[in-house]
Amino acid sequence: MSTVDEMPLRKIDHVRFFVGNARQSAYFYRNAYGFDVVAYAGLETKVKHEAGYVVQQGGITFVLMSPLRANHPDSSRLILHGDGVSDIALQVDDVRRAYNLAVERGAVGVVGPRVIEDQYGHYEFATIRAYGDTTHTFVNRDRYKGAFAPGFDPIDPSRYNPATYHPTGLLAIDHIVGNVEEGRMNEWVEYYRKVLGFEQLVSFDDEDISTEYSALMSKVVQSGRGKIKFPINEPAKGRRKSQIEEYIDFYGGAGVQHIAMATNDIIKTVRALKANDVSFLRVPKTYYEGLRSRVGDIKEDIDELAELGILVDRDDEGYMLQIFTKPVQDRPTLFFEIIQREGSKSFGKGNFKALFEAIEREQDIRGTL
Ligand code: FE2
Repeated sequence: MSTVDEMPLRKIDHVRFFVGNARQSAYFYRNAYGFDVVAYAGLETKVKHEAGYVVQQGGITFVLMSPLRANHPDSSRLILHGDGVSDIALQVDDVRRAYNLAVERGAVGVVGPRVIEDQYGHYEFATIRAYGDTTHTFVNRDRYKGAFAPGFDPIDPSRYNPATYHPTGLLAIDHIVGNVEEGRMNEWVEYYRKVLGFEQLVSFDDEDISTEYSALMSKVVQSGRGKIKFPINEPAKGRRKSQIEEYIDFYGGAGVQHIAMATNDIIKTVRALKANDVSFLRVPKTYYEGLRSRVGDIKEDIDELAELGILVDRDDEGYMLQIFTKPVQDRPTLFFEIIQREGSKSFGKGNFKALFEAIEREQDIRGTL
């Protein structure tokens, strides 16, 4: 039996963000990104130490948590990291088995297997460490019928006006990228392979993705028959500071760099996000000159892609369209990617140069090159 079969990871269950003000973050994810706010935990639901909002769109679930007092065990991470992803929860068939196998193979346990029971059923979870202060929680909710997890209640219907809720067409998490410290990418790739039974996908070296200043190396691991894809980046030597080093400096260590969210109509999604003041990275207009000859026939109108700043890449299996937001907090750390796949399973290697030059212009403005 292969390791993949021994550790059947179904999909990403949810992503947990630890933030300074979950109430305001929920407003941002709802009104800028088009997530519906579905559940709440806090003093009113008898949770004394933290407040949380569950936001959902398509198959994407984010959980936004904030400490209510200074003595919250994670409150120091806000000073160190600022707002960011604290946990990527993976849905599994059997929490105890997944946790025990992972720990047996070298994972560091944070919370051993637990079953919490309330009037809605049984919620099972266990947590292990991943890169930096990020964790993975194994979740099984097969016997749980509540709003999200014990402690959470459905959102008070008077809190948000349904008439102001406008989804933007985001459907699923395509991939989540981790930035790790220089020289540690292979160690983390091995962690995902050996501990969690992931397989390694394509690899490209720093010559592929370096620009004059900024360089990185990246490898991709996947599980759940491709439902879970984690590219891992590390900084590579460039003439000046790599965007990955900038991230690690400001985040205070390794962490989640970006979450790519899939849509099947990127033009419509990006128009909706722009109408909500989401800011995107821009590549120069010259990117679109000769794009048709680089990527061949695509069904989208290239003028429209150019107007919106959407990038295109092609491989043997098809093409993909993508665009990147600017960081979503004051620190130049976490950002989002919006992606539409038309057959291609790649991550947009052909766009890296144009994209990194765009990031470097931003770094230059920040004085961090
Ligand atoms: Fe990406």
